[in-house]
Amino acid sequence: MSPTRTRLAVAAAAVLALAIPLAIRNADAATTPTTVKAGPAAATSFTPAQVLAGVQANMTTAKKVNSKPHINTMTRAQNVNVYQVAPGVYAYTSGLAIDTDGSDPDPDPDHQGQTTWSDSNGKALGAHHVPFYVLGDDCWDRTSPCPHFFYKEHNMTGRQFALMFYNGKCIGAIFGDTQTANNQTTSDNDSRELGEGSVKAAQLLGIPSSGTTGGVDNGVTVVMFSGSSWVVNGTNANLNDNIQAKVQTALDSLGASMGGTPPTTAPPTGNTFEAETGTLSAGGTFDSNHLGFTGTGFANTANAVGAYVDIPVTAATAGTKTLTFRYSDGTSAARPATISVNGTSRGTLNFPITANWDTWATASISVPLTAGTNTIRVTGTTAGGAANIDSVTIS
Ligand code: GCU
Ligand code: CA
Repeated sequence: MSPTRTRLAVAAAAVLALAIPLAIRNADAATTPTTVKAGPAAATSFTPAQVLAGVQANMTTAKKVNSKPHINTMTRAQNVNVYQVAPGVYAYTSGLAIDTDGSDPDPDPDHQGQTTWSDSNGKALGAHHVPFYVLGDDCWDRTSPCPHFFYKEHNMTGRQFALMFYNGKCIGAIFGDTQTANNQTTSDNDSRELGEGSVKAAQLLGIPSSGTTGGVDNGVTVVMFSGSSWVVNGTNANLNDNIQAKVQTALDSLGASMGGTPPTTAPPTGNTFEAETGTLSAGGTFDSNHLGFTGTGFANTANAVGAYVDIPVTAATAGTKTLTFRYSDGTSAARPATISVNGTSRGTLNFPITANWDTWATASISVPLTAGTNTIRVTGTTAGGAANIDSVTIS
């Protein structure tokens, strides 16, 4: 159940944008939530799964913005932090309490007619029509810089765009309402809270959206894009469409600024064969949760001696060829693997470590191939199994 909510309706004092942190490209139309791991991405587009993995990899102590923890609105636990995951982009993971406020009617006894921010016609936002998230209205400690994440210190204002991720879904949302300022005595809420969003945001994310019984305790990641170029304009009737139209642009912009390479749908040359066209021994999966792979994903074998991936390749002519594996090993130990062709072992190839799981390197070995289809098996010889294998190229 969402706690009692009382909010200070403040005038929408515009915070002047000082910088545009990320390049903007034309928005793709995307009005429905995008399912993570839904299948192959369009060329040069980042998938939600890739971007979420990159965001999570950047939610490190070194990138924490707040020095005192925020409060999870649903659970009241003081364990929510905000991280700068890329220039001008801030992320937190919390629960989601349901905000029913604004111009849409709602049976919630806590419902109020106002939201802190308005649509472009000056009307209170409608929680049933506009996916929005909620931030603290002021700095609880009344000091500057604020020991908590305070939007005014981060080039943010009303209707500031965010990506919201939950349970395989990715939607766009805007900053729509605020948690009570700390001079309000009528509420148990305070401005240190994080983790509230509108009825519409909950519906799009597949979270129960009732203001009295809905919400979820944890697992919602909100990634906020600062700067005036990320303020979304529109009315209660069309804001949702305008917001969702920015989702792919935001994924691509953030994916690129976190240092990833967009995936491609086709192999770079006709001699490159994607690992995900192959088969895995028990416990392996084809994944797409690390940045920079080609094709639609990569092979992640089980972590065990003998775990393998079989990759079918085609050679135009028989003869000795070089197999170049594109792989990643984000651990601190190399992942040597036996390379066999059509069931015959051709030696052990070392797969040295890479900087992290988003960084790809190559390792090569010469083997005889027959003309036509050959099956290349990569079998891990250590307890970690094989490295993550993206592709193999024949030359
Ligand atoms: C992590 C990583 C996987 C990798 C695995 C491993 O779980 O996300 O992609 O395959 O480690 O150690 O093999
Ligand atoms: Ca693995």
